[in-house]
Amino acid sequence: MFASRVLSGMRPTGALHLGHYHGVLKNWLDLQNEYPCFFFVADWHALTTHYDDTSKLQDFTHEMIIDWLAAGIDPNNSTLFIQSKVPEHAELFLLLSMGTPLTWLERVPTYKDQIEKLKDKDLSTYGFLGYPLLQAADILIYRAQYIPVGEDQVPHIEMTREIARRFNHLYGKETNFEQNAILASRKLGSKLSKLYLELRNEYHEQGNLESLNQAKNIVEESQNISIYDSELLFSYIEGARKIILAEPKALLTKAARLIGVDGQKMSKSYGNTITMREDKLSVEKKIKTMPTDPARIRRFDKGDPEKCPVWSFHKIYTDEETHEWVKKGCTTASIGCIECKKPVINAILKEQEIFFERAQPYLDDSSLVKNIIASGCDKARVIARETMEDVREVMGL
Ligand code: TRP
Ligand code: SF4
Repeated sequence: MFASRVLSGMRPTGALHLGHYHGVLKNWLDLQNEYPCFFFVADWHALTTHYDDTSKLQDFTHEMIIDWLAAGIDPNNSTLFIQSKVPEHAELFLLLSMGTPLTWLERVPTYKDQIEKLKDKDLSTYGFLGYPLLQAADILIYRAQYIPVGEDQVPHIEMTREIARRFNHLYGKETNFEQNAILASRKLGSKLSKLYLELRNEYHEQGNLESLNQAKNIVEESQNISIYDSELLFSYIEGARKIILAEPKALLTKAARLIGVDGQKMSKSYGNTITMREDKLSVEKKIKTMPTDPARIRRFDKGDPEKCPVWSFHKIYTDEETHEWVKKGCTTASIGCIECKKPVINAILKEQEIFFERAQPYLDDSSLVKNIIASGCDKARVIARETMEDVREVMGL
């Protein structure tokens, strides 16, 4: 019931760019070889900020999925689906909303940040405030263990853990909980099992926090027990509750933040991106006109790669040898910037070849994409329904 599942979602923003590829998708590619992965298009999340214009949602969704496939996400291996096609997310969101304190939502850092940043939008809406809770429902409904996210999303995962804990606390009263927990503790091995139970007693009888932490460490460090058992053992330390929703862990994506063609962070809203399947001539033009170290006004002016946005592309796209060539050539003015940019252009075009190749069948026949999504949604829905049955049952619905 509690498999080690990876889950992540992305808002439908249309064509993905190289920053998405190097920052997020490559990470997904690694994960799909290690775990059962669930990747979904968070189209309801897009509505939390763009409820006034829904005209592009479907096209953006379709295009983004093609880019996932172009990047090498394997639909036979990972489950790809669309949030709005699994309406159980909304039901869990609703039920969780009943007991979620407003202050938990108001103190999420992205809440005030985004309201500041998107000043031209009226974000004083219920949906926008509730969006981290919707995200919590997305995660908890799959009882997912690992959530790959960027740094800005870590507080959302923390809140999700609190929500799960609170839910289990409120509704997880179970009669044979203690028996099950003791059975699970045996799987720690006889020595650790004994120690675990002693520490738990110390905590319960004397309120000793040190014992609490030690007991938690034992569970955390044990390798051979399932996520269900470890959840059970965790919650037994603190009380005696059944686990209905599992607490997920954030897998922090070490974002290789790609610089945009204007030197700022690459982002669609800055209009400085190169898309994964950008036309060849356009790639050439964008790199050729990219700003360089401002000290290199004329060909014989010396420069410093650290002050040049093209260097950030070299770091991702070219090898050591080329790096040496750039450092030497730039600081001595023995190469020109156009020359320096050539290996970058070539490497991007080379990388894109496989994207174009993988995307082509889906562009030729869009029913292929629809079928992938339909079967992904079916698979996701089976799990979501199971969780909702448990949730309704413990809530007495
Ligand atoms: N909130 C995420 C973002 O804006 C997208 C998202 C929605 C998500 N639901 C999720 C990510 C669940 C991970 C897990 O980028
Ligand atoms: Fe940048 Fe290369 Fe020009 Fe140096 S030579 S300023 S690294 S583009």
